[in-house]
Amino acid sequence: MIMVLIAVLYMTTASAQENIDESCYHCHPAQVNEFQASVHFNKNTCADCHGGDINISGNVVSINVMHTNFTGKPTPLNVTNFCSKCHESETRVYKESIHWERLKEGRSAASCTDCHGIHNILSSKNTNSSTHFENIPGTCAKCHENQTRMQALYYGIQTDRFDTYKKSFHYKSYASGGRLLAVCSDCHENHDTKQASDPKSAVNPTNLPATCGKTGCHTGANNVFITGGKIHEEQSVKLLSIDAKGLVTYFYIIMILFELSFTIGLIFLGITSKFEIRRRH
Ligand code: HEC
Ligand code: HEC
Ligand code: HEC
Ligand code: HEC
Ligand code: HEC
Ligand code: HEC
Repeated sequence: MIMVLIAVLYMTTASAQENIDESCYHCHPAQVNEFQASVHFNKNTCADCHGGDINISGNVVSINVMHTNFTGKPTPLNVTNFCSKCHESETRVYKESIHWERLKEGRSAASCTDCHGIHNILSSKNTNSSTHFENIPGTCAKCHENQTRMQALYYGIQTDRFDTYKKSFHYKSYASGGRLLAVCSDCHENHDTKQASDPKSAVNPTNLPATCGKTGCHTGANNVFITGGKIHEEQSVKLLSIDAKGLVTYFYIIMILFELSFTIGLIFLGITSKFEIRRRH
């Protein structure tokens, strides 16, 4: 294969950081600038995620650096392969989530970079991080408040989760200058997010006493407390709730049973009446 060489003389400046991939900088300054402010800077290089070999062309800036093991831009499904190299445990937990399930089905559900950013990843302790406590509702709302995004995927999913959350006790005091009490991921988990109907979900009715009862929250929360609580406004949590989808299913099952017995009854009546007519003649 012919290696195209866009050769630009490259001078190593004495002040250059060891970990800046100078060879990438010349052609991708936007990504490098973001990267320099991220938590990965000075610990990782571009090549740690993208592959490539920054030393391949010596002092010459060349696209040849994007050669050895170069993986380029990952597909949404391949992002986890970038991160799992170093964040194995988080990736393992994430792969149990509804987000990963849906991503595998080709839907645009959350991958690592949707919540954490790409080249600008920061520790969640940093107030500018998309996963900083106060920024989490906004990070989830990017998708969960988005009518078209949610509807195109699955019309059963509510798009009012941010709005209903904002009306809740946990957010209200914050809106008026007080403290933010609980955010999305406190109840739904950050990586192990599951549907409420999943018995393993932190918001499944059977697990709510433990979720609400986390240290610093409602220690000793019992079923009575939970049944009375409102989380997504107007949707008080019912321990034996039947949702709309369930109702429709039950309706159809009853309809089918009714129709079946009606048809069988008609056939039966038909047979017996024929039998009677024959007997008379
Ligand atoms: C001499 C210029 C040059 C250098 C040096 C260079 N690149 Fe590129 N890179 C390009 C060009 C040109 C493209 C293709 C343009 C496009 O699709 O936007 C590209 C595309 C990419 C892509 C996207 C590939 C895809 O699949 O769409 C990634 C990721 C990338 N480069 C990473 C790197 C990394 C990491 C380095 C350093 C190890 C590097 N590049 C060094 C010029 C360069
Ligand atoms: C922590 C992993 C990680 C590191 C480190 C990293 N990248 Fe990326 N990069 C990604 C991911 C993930 C994408 C795909 C983004 C997307 O899906 O839009 C990407 C996309 C790109 C693209 C394609 C941009 C586009 O929008 O099409 C370029 C170019 C690129 N990276 C260059 C770099 C350069 C240069 C560095 C070093 C300064 C670097 N990356 C470091 C993870 C990383
Ligand atoms: C080559 C190894 C490597 C890869 C690949 C990598 N990271 Fe990291 N990551 C690190 C290191 C090292 C740190 C810094 C930890 C520290 O400062 O204590 C870090 C820090 C982080 C942090 C902040 C952690 C904290 O405790 O403050 C997040 C979030 C993060 N990475 C997410 C990602 C995501 C998302 C990807 C994939 C797009 C990724 N990382 C890819 C090595 C990596
Ligand atoms: C739905 C959003 C979401 C997705 C998807 C997600 N994370 Fe996170 N992640 C979070 C949140 C929120 C936190 C911070 C939780 C906290 O406050 O302790 C976090 C914490 C982390 C941390 C600990 C460092 C820190 O800043 O506290 C790492 C490392 C990390 N995630 C890596 C990953 C990797 C790797 C993936 C993909 C396999 C991933 N995350 C997918 C939301 C997400
Ligand atoms: C990139 C977009 C995106 C982001 C960001 C995102 N989600 Fe999701 N989420 C989805 C999609 C898509 C689904 C799957 C909907 C479906 O088809 O069931 C989903 C499913 C869920 C579900 C299960 C609900 C259901 O009915 O399937 C919960 C709970 C959830 N997400 C919570 C969160 C929380 C909490 C955050 C932030 C920490 C978050 N999500 C961030 C896109 C996203
Ligand atoms: C105090 C805990 C708590 C907080 C904070 C919270 N939720 Fe929920 N969420 C729940 C509970 C409990 C349910 C299940 C009962 C219901 O549907 O109201 C639920 C249901 C959901 C569902 C539907 C899940 C399903 O499987 O049908 C989505 C999506 C969702 N929440 C997203 C969010 C988002 C996004 C945020 C932040 C903006 C958030 N939640 C904040 C507790 C919480």
